[in-house]
Amino acid sequence: MATSSSSFGAILTLALFLLFSESVINAQLSTNYYSESCPDLFSTVKCTLESAIAKETRIGASILRLFFHDCFVNGCDGSILLDDTSNFIGEKNAASNRNSVRGFDVIDNIKSAVENVCPGVVSCADILAIAARDSVVILGGPDWYVKLGRRDARTASQAAANNSLPPPTSNLNQLISFFSNVGLSTKDMVALSGAHTIGQARCTSFKARIYNETNIESSFAKTGRSNCPRPTGSGDNNLVSLDIQTPTCFDNSYYKNLLQKRGLLHSDQQLFNGGSTDSIVRSYSNSQNSFHFDFAVAMIKMGDIKPLTGSKGEIRKNCRKRN
Ligand code: HEM
Ligand SMILES: *[C@@H]1O[C@H](CO)[C@@H](O)[C@H](O)[C@H]1NC(C)=O
Ligand SMILES: *[C@@H]1O[C@H](CO)[C@@H](O)[C@H](O)[C@H]1NC(C)=O
Repeated sequence: MATSSSSFGAILTLALFLLFSESVINAQLSTNYYSESCPDLFSTVKCTLESAIAKETRIGASILRLFFHDCFVNGCDGSILLDDTSNFIGEKNAASNRNSVRGFDVIDNIKSAVENVCPGVVSCADILAIAARDSVVILGGPDWYVKLGRRDARTASQAAANNSLPPPTSNLNQLISFFSNVGLSTKDMVALSGAHTIGQARCTSFKARIYNETNIESSFAKTGRSNCPRPTGSGDNNLVSLDIQTPTCFDNSYYKNLLQKRGLLHSDQQLFNGGSTDSIVRSYSNSQNSFHFDFAVAMIKMGDIKPLTGSKGEIRKNCRKRN
């Protein structure tokens, strides 16, 4: 994997961190889980993902977000990948997901490629964890060893998805508690929010901020308004990059934007609005390395949320439906 020398140092340190903490945090997931049962797993995932990102850069962002929306709702168990059917309600139409989450076809393509090399072995939940990491790496972010061994849920919960995913209207205290509800710290929350250095948001997600808020830089608000007409319902699906500086590069400009009151979502600017997280935002804006390092640590923690292991769940054949 292509990495800069600075993130190489971060990888070494992370490896030590993992060796030390693995048995403490979660004895059941491990980075070499498929090393015998599916030795070509990593290259297979990466190859399929690379061609998808080459076709559409945004898809890397979409897949990273899918992993977040999977893990926050009853753990990283692939539940977000299940389609609704006439007798099954999944999570795809939950408030934060409907008309918004995307990338399912790419996960299907990766799953088919993996099934070709090792049928019936690798869970959809693990494929999503690897694809999220690879997306970050391909877009210039940090690398880390992904812990594996999750199994796929046979259930999903639209109600839990409605309640567990933070809406963009959240204030700082609400953001902190959405993350603490799944065992993540305030610092993890600020680091993981740096994912908004890539990808796009729909006008409906930030309209109230660009028209009504005062902690927003005026030329930035003006540009946003030109892409997002004021009347209720109009232009709701128009897209704007979450990081207008470098929208396809996993750098620290998200935090630099916040210092200039150029956070696109209300929730983004909450991280730098005179509150307790200002100092963390400032330090990430000054050091891409510390952002990259803390992001990788927090992604590993997020990936540890309530995995199904042992005989729980199943290894789905098709990520969209239960076996
Ligand atoms: C801190 C609380 C968070 C809130 C309130 C939030 C909210 C949002 C919203 C409203 C959008 C735009 C959706 C749309 O308009 O369709 C978005 C996009 C995105 N979010 Fe978050 N998010 C948060 C944390 C995270 C985390 C932890 C990650 C991943 C680690 C993440 C990754 C992304 C990505 C990559 C996109 C762009 C997706 C794309 O272009 O398809 N977000 N988020
Ligand atoms: C979840 O939210 C959506 C959209 O707001 C709503 O239509 C749905 O009924 C909610 N589902 C549950 C189970 O509360
Ligand atoms: C801005 O605030 C006003 C007053 O609360 C409200 O009527 C209006 O709908 C808001 N505009 C947007 C775009 O949210």
